[in-house]
Amino acid sequence: MVSYQSAKEEIKRTADVVELIGQYVKLRKAGRNYVGLCPFHAEKDPSFTVNPERQTFHCFGCKKGGDVFGFWMEYHSTTFPEAMRDLAERYHITISEGYSAAEEEKKAAQRNALYKINEIAADYFQKALNHSAKGKPARDYLKRRAIPEETISASRLGFAPDKWDGLINVLKKHHTAMHMAEQAGVIIQREKGGYYDRFRGRIIFPIIDQRQQVVGFGGRVMDDSLPKYLNTPETPVFRKGESLYGLHASFKAIREKGRAVLVEGYMDWLALQKHGLKEVVATLGTALTDRHVRKLKGYAKEAIIVFDSDEAGKSAALKSLYVFANEGLSAKAVVLPAGHDPDSFVNENGLDRFQDFLGHAFPMFDFFLDQKLTKGDSDEGKVRALKEILPVLSEIRDFALRSLYVRRLSEKIGIREDTVLAELKSHYKIPTVGAQRKSREGGQGPSKGKAADKMGRELLSLMVCYPDTIPRLMDCDCRVLISEPEVVDMVDMIFEKYIQEGRFLPEDLLEDIKSESGRERFRETLHRPYVIYSDQDVEQAVTEIEKKAYLKSISASQKKARGDRETQNKLLKLKIQGPPRS
Ligand code: CTP
Ligand code: MN
Repeated sequence: MVSYQSAKEEIKRTADVVELIGQYVKLRKAGRNYVGLCPFHAEKDPSFTVNPERQTFHCFGCKKGGDVFGFWMEYHSTTFPEAMRDLAERYHITISEGYSAAEEEKKAAQRNALYKINEIAADYFQKALNHSAKGKPARDYLKRRAIPEETISASRLGFAPDKWDGLINVLKKHHTAMHMAEQAGVIIQREKGGYYDRFRGRIIFPIIDQRQQVVGFGGRVMDDSLPKYLNTPETPVFRKGESLYGLHASFKAIREKGRAVLVEGYMDWLALQKHGLKEVVATLGTALTDRHVRKLKGYAKEAIIVFDSDEAGKSAALKSLYVFANEGLSAKAVVLPAGHDPDSFVNENGLDRFQDFLGHAFPMFDFFLDQKLTKGDSDEGKVRALKEILPVLSEIRDFALRSLYVRRLSEKIGIREDTVLAELKSHYKIPTVGAQRKSREGGQGPSKGKAADKMGRELLSLMVCYPDTIPRLMDCDCRVLISEPEVVDMVDMIFEKYIQEGRFLPEDLLEDIKSESGRERFRETLHRPYVIYSDQDVEQAVTEIEKKAYLKSISASQKKARGDRETQNKLLKLKIQGPPRS
């Protein structure tokens, strides 16, 4: 048994950063370091590095970094004391006394209390399902749904009896504070005081995280009444936009297979598990979020989404396109035959047929185009399809990927690429919703400056997306057009790099920008260029900038030369002549 402080040292000595992170991120050796795709931000090329000598990790993309504790806290969204506890357990180190910042301790204690309550509830539901008499209707229901005993116990399925105080009485026996149980979402406060059980007369699906803790529940009715499913509301330990049903049991299989199969529902997950397809998670009927995908990225190289054939399923598939694109996880999609979901399909046709379907999954964007474009579309039909596709395309931040998609779209739809681009431009949301919110909150958002820094943004976008324009922009001294000092600094750095190295790689600059707000801003330019140009537009944009820069510097000189008639005249003449042609 060791003290809190020496436990920290002991963990650092025992834990190997490569082994630990390797459990979550696919790493490969690259020189002295290991590299992989960052689990904390969107990327397609690995910039996440792990250094075995220093026992640290660092992402050159999002700048997150630290030691084993830092990784654990970030990855599992835990506080420091929780990370200590988890890692100590993992490496069999017993801590005798624990102390830490009061605030963190409090939060950790609160979360622990919620986990404990969930555990009591899960246990209660499980016992109720196994109760010979009271659990019989629920067991019969599960039998009808073809879920075998092993799957039931492995997934800790349960049954909430149709009582208002079944769980409450159990919680009381455990001396649980009712307001905490309410926070855990398992009971609900009555308006007139007192509490009642949230889940009544339902089959219970505990939602378990990768640390094997119960974070919430889903409950299904056993007949056709509504709502069909009832879930734990958002709590400090349950976030719908983050949790994936079944990941606790499937993450190893996902890592081994390198792929994750995404389905929508509890029942789908259970049916596929039963049939032996292990690399599966369910999104619980919610829209796929970036947090979902980030979680998966730690394990999978590829995701295959299996959607129900109904309209809701298809539209969910389409919306997930840009989430995958932005997070840089390659994704395929497949739609099951009409009237089927994975559960009904695999139970009817077996796993081999289901695997066949997976084998025929299309890359997300092709799938998407196929859904939107039907053969022999009229011109009006094409335009309609284009209008539907553009908003999704405009959400894709990766410049290269979006260009690729534009080309594919243009080929497939038979509309010229520059026409598609022009249309896309009109769909582009500027500034982004996120940036708007940030600026309203008075944060250091990139959209702080108004019209004045439009030019700064345009210039940055040009240099980042079309580095070939840099020499001309340098020559005309476009810097005079930028009003924000931060942007002027960035442009200076770009010019310097270009002069030194004869080329400019945006990623290199990210390392050199000193302020966090600057890096953030530059990252945003990388991910979401302010303007999109076709090749012809680039030429025109640069010419215009040259002209503006020329006029602006003359105006500045005119101001300085006030009273000096001769110089004034010269400048006026220059102004009329326009910029020199190079
Ligand atoms: N869902 C939910 N609340 C609802 C309906 C659905 O949370 N009122 C979630 C559940 O996680 C459900 C998933 O969305 O598993 C998919 O919904 P659906 O296809 O309607 O249910 P199935 O999983 O197919 O369930 P079943 O086969 O029992 O009808
Ligand atoms: Mn179903």
